[in-house]
Amino acid sequence: MGETSKEGETSKVMDSVHSTVFKESETLEGKCQKIQGYDFNKGVNYSQLLKSMVSTGFQASNLGDAIEVVNEMIGWRLSDEALVEGCSEEERDMKFRESTKCKIFLGFTSNLISSGVRDTVRYLVQHRMVEVVVTTAGGIEEDLIKCLAHTYKGDFNLDGAHLRSKGLNRIGNLLVPNDNYCKFEDWIIPIFDQMLEEQKTEKLLWTPSKVIACLGKEINDESSYLYWAYKNGIPVFCPGLTDGSLGDMLYFHSFRNPGLVIDIVQDIRAMNGEAVHANHRKTGMIILGGGLPKHHICNANMMRNGADYAVFINTAQEFDGSDSGAQPDEAVSWGKLRGSAKTVKVHCDATIAFPLLVAETFAQKCI
Ligand SMILES: NC(=O)c1ccc[n+]([C@@H]2O[C@H](COP(=O)([O-])OP(=O)(O)OC[C@H]3O[C@@H](n4cnc5c(N)ncnc54)[C@H](O)[C@@H]3O)[C@@H](O)[C@H]2O)c1
Repeated sequence: MGETSKEGETSKVMDSVHSTVFKESETLEGKCQKIQGYDFNKGVNYSQLLKSMVSTGFQASNLGDAIEVVNEMIGWRLSDEALVEGCSEEERDMKFRESTKCKIFLGFTSNLISSGVRDTVRYLVQHRMVEVVVTTAGGIEEDLIKCLAHTYKGDFNLDGAHLRSKGLNRIGNLLVPNDNYCKFEDWIIPIFDQMLEEQKTEKLLWTPSKVIACLGKEINDESSYLYWAYKNGIPVFCPGLTDGSLGDMLYFHSFRNPGLVIDIVQDIRAMNGEAVHANHRKTGMIILGGGLPKHHICNANMMRNGADYAVFINTAQEFDGSDSGAQPDEAVSWGKLRGSAKTVKVHCDATIAFPLLVAETFAQKCI
């Protein structure tokens, strides 16, 4: 082969390599958001900084998307929908249609009430911005205990045995003195006595949500989200009420003054009823963390063929098959979320993401 034909062959190969590497693109202009972060040359503007999340990428974009989904939940009205054939007189009434909103379920793990997220939850419940709440036992007792004594900032690396010798309990980088639980016991045992008395004399059958409402009433403290839930008639469900200090107290009480019964069956009827009786309303789920609160809300929404909106904020992964880590689409397969639902999962510590989300959604509506 001569020099020129060799060069011609190389040039052909290079042309082919070039066209492979620089394959022509389909245009994304006008179809996708341009990635761009916040420009600090414009000064520090927190609202604009939060608005720039959606175009920043990665979990910042997911947080930005979550803000949009929550604003849609808040803004939705039945009047946005076309009239369904054969609907009732009431559903035809424009005033009724304009006042019918999305029903929002809020769930969170216990540790978030140990953290300052408690105050964000209190704000939402105080202003009736959510209609149904689900948490685990710590999410109940930590709210009440904080009215009796403080939780403090510690460190993730504090030595367990040393803390034990000082009567200090650690939740992540938070410290809860053991004395807080002693104060809790002194406060709650007479309330359990009173509940047992009402069970005997008035044939009152207690459920976790009724116990929680009673505790919210008794604490009578505006810093408590349970106080506001009681005041505003917002049900707080906790089917695992005994898995925490509340369980310890019920255990001791069952020896001192036996007989108190707490029925979970009535509560599953009430919880599922919240979804079933949402009727022509849309439902939205905002769930912080995984475990029971996440599943309990999703499962109730299965009873109405799925929720219409979902925002999950958690750090759990899906590769182990956990419900905590499951993406919204897994819930679609179960009928817990509609196929048409607007959903987003934010992979983030909720102590960071949730107050920011509230700042750009619910808190904007209250100004
Ligand atoms: N303060 C407490 O945490 C506390 C107190 C008393 C009892 N308990 C009991 O411990 C048990 C387990 O607690 P749980 O079911 O509430 O949840 P959990 O603490 O077991 O968390 C469940 C999952 O939620 C996710 N998650 C937790 N915190 C998160 C965060 N800050 N941001 C994002 N994702 C997060 C993680 O994926 C985690 O695996 C419950 O029965 C509860 O009553 C907890």
